Amino acid sequence: VQLQVERVRDEAGAREWHAVDDVVVPTDHPGLLADPLEEVLARLPEGTPSERVLLFVGRVGGEPVANAEVMLPMQDNPHVASLDLAVRPDRRRRGIGRELLAVLLDVVREEKRNTVTGHVGGPLTGEPPGARFARSVGASPVHTELRRELLLATVDDAAVDRLASWPPGYELVQWVDRAPADLVGDAAMLMARMTTDAPLGELDWQPEIWDAARFREKEDRAIGGGRRRLVSGAREQVSGRLVAYTDIGVNRSRPVIAYQWDTIVLPGHRGRRLGLLVKAANLRLLRRQVPGVRSVQTWNAADNGYMVAVNDALGFRPVERWEHWQKRL
Ligand SMILES: CC(C)(COP(=O)(O)OP(=O)(O)OC[C@H]1O[C@@H](n2cnc3c(N)ncnc32)[C@H](O)[C@@H]1OP(=O)(O)O)[C@@H](O)C(=O)NCCC(=O)NCCS
Repeated sequence: VQLQVERVRDEAGAREWHAVDDVVVPTDHPGLLADPLEEVLARLPEGTPSERVLLFVGRVGGEPVANAEVMLPMQDNPHVASLDLAVRPDRRRRGIGRELLAVLLDVVREEKRNTVTGHVGGPLTGEPPGARFARSVGASPVHTELRRELLLATVDDAAVDRLASWPPGYELVQWVDRAPADLVGDAAMLMARMTTDAPLGELDWQPEIWDAARFREKEDRAIGGGRRRLVSGAREQVSGRLVAYTDIGVNRSRPVIAYQWDTIVLPGHRGRRLGLLVKAANLRLLRRQVPGVRSVQTWNAADNGYMVAVNDALGFRPVERWEHWQKRL
């Protein structure tokens, strides 16, 4: 094929990138939609200081048929590049994916990264084309997650409230978008722990390095992309420290699908249902703050038993297998 691959640098390119995603995402991931254009624009020109993001469009005969994203962590994991690539469903199986990947791998080599990771979503049983593609290019599956979906119309508030009785010594803290100044350092510490405490299978991902400035950058990035972040946490009263955290992201201009982002309880405070309590509280916050949300999406490692039990109790149900692949260069 005569594939032309070009870096996206302006709004016109972002529109093409987004047009591909608009067809690909609902086809490959039932229940999901492409992120709104403003979220693509917010990643230009090249992401943020802690994560460089390079977007590419692939065209055949001038028409955009494929898109890709290369993510380069800058504060940790200097050996890794995460790739996401997709070909329009009506143009698959003609070698476009393979050609696009070859261009992306050249970029990765130039960036001196030797480990490439990517994910493939697909039905709960059976193998999606992405998995066959990944195998054919020499990658191996290293970690499996399930995407779970909570349909908000099915949530029984009274039942969730019955699950939730708050243990003595902790209080609920909540915020939207930006953490209060006295909690941002703790929130950053909990983000670092996410990368050591959540199972990652054989994914070669080293602990992330977080401070308050990086947490602020993460907040700004979400706000810049039009996302609202809803956070519920638990503060230990005696120390004043934030010991549990959960957040949900939802786009302001299209608040239909909400994403469960991170959830973590600090060791030493686990086993007191704080995980369930903060998640239940955050769902209530979401419904209060953002009417119109239809579903909440979450991704969990298949072997993360405790988190999965919490999600089951709240009514999340598995809808998709989500496999991470890895290739050494
Ligand atoms: C994965 C994807 C990018 C492949 O794009 P494509 O243009 O169809 O890929 P190619 O035509 O270059 O296929 C290259 C090889 O992958 C394998 N492959 C790809 N799709 C396949 C399928 N449906 N069945 C079996 N093998 C397949 C084959 O070995 C193929 O080589 P061959 O045609 O010579 O046998 C495309 O299916 C897609 O966009 N999927 C959704 C997004 C995704 O899963 N991305 C994965 C990486 S993040």
